[in-house]
Amino acid sequence: MTSSFDAVADSQDAAKRNLWLHFTRMGSYAHSEMPVIVRGEGAYVFDQHGRRYLDGLSGLFVSQVGHGRQEIAEAAARQSSELAYFPLWSYAHPRAIELAARLADMAPGSLNRVFFTTSGSEAVESAWKLAKQYFKMTGEPGRYKVISRDIAYHGTSMGALAITGLADIKAAFEPLPPGGVRVPNTNFYRAPDFVATDEVAFGRWAADEIERAILREGPASVAAVYLEPVQNSGGCFPPPPGYFERVREICDQYGVLLVSDEVICAFGRLGYYFGCERYGYQPDIITFAKGLTSGYSPLGGMLVSDALMEPFNSGTASFLHGITFAGHPVSAAVAMANLDIFEKEDLPGNVRANEAGFRATLEKLNDLPIVGDIRGAGYFYGIELVKDKATRETFSDEESERLLRGFLSHALFDAGLVCRADDRGDPVIQLAPPLICGQEHFDEIERILRAVLTEAWQRL
Ligand SMILES: Cc1ncc(COP(=O)(O)O)c(C=O)c1O
Repeated sequence: MTSSFDAVADSQDAAKRNLWLHFTRMGSYAHSEMPVIVRGEGAYVFDQHGRRYLDGLSGLFVSQVGHGRQEIAEAAARQSSELAYFPLWSYAHPRAIELAARLADMAPGSLNRVFFTTSGSEAVESAWKLAKQYFKMTGEPGRYKVISRDIAYHGTSMGALAITGLADIKAAFEPLPPGGVRVPNTNFYRAPDFVATDEVAFGRWAADEIERAILREGPASVAAVYLEPVQNSGGCFPPPPGYFERVREICDQYGVLLVSDEVICAFGRLGYYFGCERYGYQPDIITFAKGLTSGYSPLGGMLVSDALMEPFNSGTASFLHGITFAGHPVSAAVAMANLDIFEKEDLPGNVRANEAGFRATLEKLNDLPIVGDIRGAGYFYGIELVKDKATRETFSDEESERLLRGFLSHALFDAGLVCRADDRGDPVIQLAPPLICGQEHFDEIERILRAVLTEAWQRL
């Protein structure tokens, strides 16, 4: 009989030999153990040693209803035995129909058509393909460019990567599909001096930069603008007041589609089913994934306005795009069971009721010298770390490497918190707990962050 010690060693050996982790320096596990998460329960996950961690990132902004929900597992099992698979190419199946109708019902305005994918990147890329084909069919074939924001992450497949605004993860794959255009993001903490003290003026300037980009590129060449309601990468940049109102105006003026990339922000993360509802704007397309199934099975997609669908709805026209596993019956059944839980437990309402407590608890950390800015909305926060609070000076690359990769990531995990120490923009800690969380979880997050950030400062 193998002991649990042997079982752990065997799985470590196999993992190091055969498994390739995403966005991970595999060499960093040469002399240390790879974390192996084996089980989840509510807001917590457990590793192969039985140690418990608060899932402060919902896995990867995914596990909205928390872990271990039997009713979702049972819905998946039922669907597997009834109809495990059939494609959405020329056929429909009941769960895709029900889910599309439910999403259309929930989505704002005329977003009534659902095109399913399996992931967020595919959703983002599908929206770009739809925009390109739509404009070709409607007499504006020159429109193919897409505008997105500095440091924004929109996925990793080649098309989605062309929309992503993170130079460091793009360079290795150049040349990418042409047409990606960058504009400033809404990081008010790092706003240019001339708008640094007036958030409304900052928002107006940032939105007007989209107009300037459209004019610079030539309006007849621009197909779409991709924006997250709250930008994740860089550490949670909420929109300044008036920002989306002005962006909508600009898009309407130049006939450009507004894509709300809600792969993270939909399904309760900001206290509403869709992030655009929180900020009162009407997109032409919403892209979604992650929280729709709380990760019990993969599923993504886009919600498209009636107007965009119209040219595809008659004659011989079809959208020349498809994905084998998109709208998978088991994933669609899982999404329905997940949304049942959302409704039964009013999870968006729980977020709205508790978000002030989450913010106030995190803001206690403002007394630490390393904490520069705490920003976000709903259950979605970023904490920017700085070297000098007064001047907002950030860390050098070497310090950032030592601090984030060399210490913080491991120390936070060892202290029992799953979150993310990210240096793709300025160094930030990202938090996005499951939507079932309450004050006791916020207190636990604050306690762990306080201890680990205090030690990080002493090590600098
Ligand atoms: C805003 C946004 N868009 C797209 C994606 C890509 O999603 P996926 O990893 O499912 O392909 C992500 C992933 O984190 C995201 O945050």
